[in-house]
Amino acid sequence: MFPTDPEEINLVVEPTLTVPPLPHLRAIPRHVAITMDGNGRWAESRGLSRVEGHRAGADAIRPVVERLAEHGVSVLTLWGFSTENWGRPRDEVQAIFRLGRDFIDQHLEELDETGIQLRHLGNLERLPVWLRRRVEKAIERTKNNSKLMLNLAFNYGGRADIVEAVQDLIREGVNADDVTEESISSRLATEGLREPDLLIRTGGEVRVSNFLVWQAAYAEYYFTKTLWPDFNAHAIDAALIDFGHRQRRFGLVDNGDAKEHFPNSSGP
Ligand code: FPP
Repeated sequence: MFPTDPEEINLVVEPTLTVPPLPHLRAIPRHVAITMDGNGRWAESRGLSRVEGHRAGADAIRPVVERLAEHGVSVLTLWGFSTENWGRPRDEVQAIFRLGRDFIDQHLEELDETGIQLRHLGNLERLPVWLRRRVEKAIERTKNNSKLMLNLAFNYGGRADIVEAVQDLIREGVNADDVTEESISSRLATEGLREPDLLIRTGGEVRVSNFLVWQAAYAEYYFTKTLWPDFNAHAIDAALIDFGHRQRRFGLVDNGDAKEHFPNSSGP
């Protein structure tokens, strides 16, 4: 029965969904990358299926994109499916693909109207054709937008990305002496993009798990116990406030020049 006692009602009411006013930030990361972890635990703690957790995770994406756009972040990379996730039960893998498709179907028009450019990181070839087509359509439709670039990393793995870049160099016949950090960077899936400034991982695990392992060499890491479906505008603000207090030195001493040394900083 639904509780009538006010104190008991408070226990079951969801936490506030109101969007807080934008806080003043000391620095804004231009590229934020997120490992959206914790969907399974979020569901299990509610007696729901893991797929329900991924659905709630998919629903958490739009408010986060909106908030980061409000803050003036220019690139957001979201990790939706890793090359290692193929080892999960087939039903779960299929459900994640369907959620990716539904996300595009539900949000493409609105994302386009608000100036979001969609891009994809990772290998599209192994994805089901109905998902690949959606992703390609979304990339094409939004290619001229410039408010925020949303990279969906779907079937992405950091080491696979590096291996493919090196394979490209070898196929092109590049001499060993000409293999440089720049020549590798320019053949990664993130080619032309600024490297991530801030890498957020939700769900309480404190590890990188093969996400953007090359590109995040100088990223600031932010780990939070908040499970991804609970991650919202408040949580984004907390991460960005924390980022604003970091002192980035890029291996240099703090003589004021360090910020000039951000590697691969030419992209959006
Ligand atoms: C990690 O949580 C999450 C995933 C492997 C899938 C993420 C997918 C979505 C957020 C939905 C679809 C994506 C898009 C881009 C629309 P986990 O399952 O490892 O959680 P656990 O560690 O609690 O088990």
